[in-house]
Amino acid sequence: MTTDAPTDAETDLAVELRNVDKAFYGVKANDNVNFRLARGEVHALLGENGAGKSTLCSILAGLYRPDAGEMFLNGAPTVFKSPKDALASGVGMIYQHFRLVPNLTVAENFALGHPSTGIRLDQKKLQEEAAELGDRYGLPIDPSARIWQLSVGEQQRVEILKLLYRNVDVLILDEPTAVLTPQESKQLFKTMRQMADEGRSVIFVSHKLREVKEVSDSVTVLRHGRNVGGVATADAEAEDLARMMVGRDLVLPARTDTTQPGSVVLAVTDLRVEGDRGLEVVSGVSFEVRAGEIVGIAGVSGNGQRELALGLNGLRTPTAGRVFITNFDVTKASVLAHIYAGMSYVPQNRLGVGLAPGLTTEENLALKAFRQPPYSRGRRLVPSAFRSEGARQIEQYDVRGVRPGLPIRLLSGGNLQKALIAREIEMGPKVLILHSPTRGLDVGATQTVRQLALAERARGVGVLLISEDLDELLALSDRLLVMYEGEIVGQMNTEDATAERLGLLMAGKRQGEQT
Ligand SMILES: Nc1ncnc2c1ncn2[C@@H]1O[C@H](COP(=O)(O)OP(=O)(O)OP(=O)(O)O)[C@@H](O)[C@H]1O
Ligand SMILES: [Mg+2]
Repeated sequence: MTTDAPTDAETDLAVELRNVDKAFYGVKANDNVNFRLARGEVHALLGENGAGKSTLCSILAGLYRPDAGEMFLNGAPTVFKSPKDALASGVGMIYQHFRLVPNLTVAENFALGHPSTGIRLDQKKLQEEAAELGDRYGLPIDPSARIWQLSVGEQQRVEILKLLYRNVDVLILDEPTAVLTPQESKQLFKTMRQMADEGRSVIFVSHKLREVKEVSDSVTVLRHGRNVGGVATADAEAEDLARMMVGRDLVLPARTDTTQPGSVVLAVTDLRVEGDRGLEVVSGVSFEVRAGEIVGIAGVSGNGQRELALGLNGLRTPTAGRVFITNFDVTKASVLAHIYAGMSYVPQNRLGVGLAPGLTTEENLALKAFRQPPYSRGRRLVPSAFRSEGARQIEQYDVRGVRPGLPIRLLSGGNLQKALIAREIEMGPKVLILHSPTRGLDVGATQTVRQLALAERARGVGVLLISEDLDELLALSDRLLVMYEGEIVGQMNTEDATAERLGLLMAGKRQGEQT
């Protein structure tokens, strides 16, 4: 149990912000924020998408200069001119998007920008130091590996070790677990705790309240750019935190009814798909999805899920096997043919594959349907339809933060996802592929997206849910398949599934091998 904060808390503060403001295009991302980070604590930063968490972190890490307000480091007034400046003072941040140099080795990335790095690199010494640090913090890495050869989880380890190599006292992690497997997250939490025990401070941003409960000592909640309160983690339940974030009670929807699924809308037999480097990464996958059911595909990312999705929707031609949407063979068909056959796809990579970052929200919403009425009449586009349809969908799907004429990439993560799902559902699909649909989304947006998936199921759409989030898979799916190294290694009805059983299959223990 955590007791009340010590009365001499001021002396224990690693960082303090007072009355900090930061606006973008006249919208306040941080509004008069006070924030206190104690030495030796893991401090969670919570808030809805767009609440201003990344902005606050970026101010602390010297990336943004606040418009107003003060910062104190170890009690002394401080102004960071750049992230480099912050790092020199012991404050380092892991961004949502990593900043490693892909062609360099792990050890070389360590040396990059380090003050003691001279003209010549002592490769051997660097590699030894990198490996030693990895062992000490339970983050094993191969220091001679090149960054591009590493999984996202491994790249994150390198980022963290790189900051530890620079001996940071304050480590800021902006949604680090959004890209990690449950096992990797567990390991990261151990490292975070170890750092706190050493007297360092960790700021942890996450939308997963269970993680916040598990790893943090205290919580600060932002809402619309304002600090709306803080608590000792032990004094709040996950529901309390959710309420602080959104200002109302929240229940995550789950599938409650068992329906009688209809006819097969997606049939996949012995599908084989190659990865980016020309190696087969989907190795003979077969399954069916029926109308009105949600089929979940569980698996640690990197086991062929992405390529499976690409192979199913025509973005990558399979090397063998068959894909049918209802009774149309679309195996070798174009992306457009897949769309016309009734397939909608919500990819994991929203801004890379799903949306056109530089176009407006209205344009993005129309991106697939603009050849059809009401967007076009004959061969002429109807501008008013873009506006009216856009306005309707923005309202109906609760896409927030849209500013007329500005590119969609300025929306926060959750709102990008709602826009993308709106467009895909508006196509009236027979098959809907959702890949990690709530990754990085706040609880409110997650609730909306889950409701939408369940509504599609109720409407008779066959939904394929590819995810690493076991809670979500268990909550939404009628049936579950587990993918490992390009194959389906297990399947079960959700009623028979437990997180533990799925976890074992995801780790490569085949059904039958389990004891
Ligand atoms: N570089 C920028 N240019 C314009 N607007 C921005 C920029 N960065 C953030 N914003 C806006 O500032 C607000 C706060 O964004 P921020 O990224 O800090 O939110 P967040 O809490 O990290 O959200 P998420 O959970 O989606 O990551 C949002 O309205 C966002 O659109
Ligand atoms: Mg953010």
